[in-house]
Amino acid sequence: MSDRLILRQPDDWHLHLRDGAMLATVVPFTARQFARAIVMPNLTPPVTTVAMANAYRDRIRQAVPADSAFQPLMTCYLTDASDPNEIERGYTTKVWAAAKLYPAHATTNSAHGVTDMKKLTRVFERMQRIGMPLLLHGEVTDPGVDIFDRENVFIDKVLTKLLDDFPDLKVVLEHITTAEAVDFLMATSTQIAATITPHHLMISRNDMLVGGIRPHLYCLPIVKRERHRRALRRAATSGSAKFFLGTDSAPHAVHTKENACGCAGIFNAPFALELYAQVFDEEQALDKLEGFASLYGPAFYGLPANERQAVLERGRSEAPREIGAGNERLLPFAGPNGLAWRFVGLVEAAVNETRPRAGS
Ligand code: DOR
Ligand code: ZN
Repeated sequence: MSDRLILRQPDDWHLHLRDGAMLATVVPFTARQFARAIVMPNLTPPVTTVAMANAYRDRIRQAVPADSAFQPLMTCYLTDASDPNEIERGYTTKVWAAAKLYPAHATTNSAHGVTDMKKLTRVFERMQRIGMPLLLHGEVTDPGVDIFDRENVFIDKVLTKLLDDFPDLKVVLEHITTAEAVDFLMATSTQIAATITPHHLMISRNDMLVGGIRPHLYCLPIVKRERHRRALRRAATSGSAKFFLGTDSAPHAVHTKENACGCAGIFNAPFALELYAQVFDEEQALDKLEGFASLYGPAFYGLPANERQAVLERGRSEAPREIGAGNERLLPFAGPNGLAWRFVGLVEAAVNETRPRAGS
C-alpha cells in the first residue's frame, strides 16, 4: 500500500464561505487545498444579482492568502422572482458559474428560496439554452414528509419532472445522501451529476444520535442509515463521472450548533482532502480518488482540470479542537476516528509528466 498520494489538484464543487470575520477565517483552509470552489450564495441577504456576486467575489478574493491561486466560482441564488435576463448576463460575463435552487425553508438561509418550480419555467428554459448548470438542494419541504425521506420524495416528485421538462438542462443534485439517489443517478442521462460530502461518506445517523445527540454532526440533508453511507461510498469510488467532490463545508459558530435549536452544517474545510483520501483508502480505491476529486467536476462544468498536483501522506495527525473566527469559535470536522492522512502541499506538475500518479 502506498504511503504517499499525488493527484491533480482538486476543486470543491460545493462550499459555504459566509461573510465578514467568518469568511476571513475559513477561506484560507479551502484555498490551501483546492484550486477552485463553487461558492454557495445563501448569505443574508442572498446573492441574487450580478452586482452582489461581483462584490462578494471581491470580498472572497481579499481573504485569499497571497501565495494561493484559489479562484472562487460564484453562484446565483434563485428566487420566485429571478429574472432570466439577469441570470444570463451574469453567466455570459463569467461572474456566475451556476445557479443554486433552494426550496424555500429547506435549510440555512433559504427563506427566499423557490416556493414553486413552475415559477421558474422561463429561468430553466434560459439556463438550458445557454448551458448554465442548475445546482439543487434536493429536498422537499412539505411538513408532512419525514425529514429522512425528503431527498427521496424530491427525486420522485420534483426532479424527475424537471429532467423530463428540460432534457438538456445541466443539473447537479447536491450533497446526495441515499442509496436511492445513487440508483437514480446511475439510471439517468449524463445531464445530471451529483456531489458527495466527506461527512456523508463517513457518518451515519447512529454517529449523530446514539449515546447522546451530537449537534456538530447535524447537517442537511440529514445523515441517513448505514446502508446509505455504504451506497455513497460505492458511488464515490465507482469511477463513474456522475459523482464528484463537493464538501458542503458549512461553518457555524459553536454556540449556534450547541443550542436548543442548533444550526445545520458541518465545517470540514480544514481537513477535506484528508477525509476523502481516508474514505478512498478504506475502500481500497485510492486510484479512483483523482477522477472524483479532480477530473469529473471540471469535465461537467466544461472547465480544464488543474495543472498543479496535491500531495498527501499516510499518517495520523491531530486536528485542532477549535478554531477562532473573530469573536466566535468553529469546530472542524475531522472524521469519527481522527485523521489517517496528512495534506503535505501543492507542487507544480513535472514538465514531462502528462498523467499524475495516484500513489507512488
Ligand atoms: O447543513 C447544511 N448547511 N445544509 C445546507 O444545505 C446549508 C448549509 C448552511 O448554509 O449552513
Ligand atoms: Zn450547502
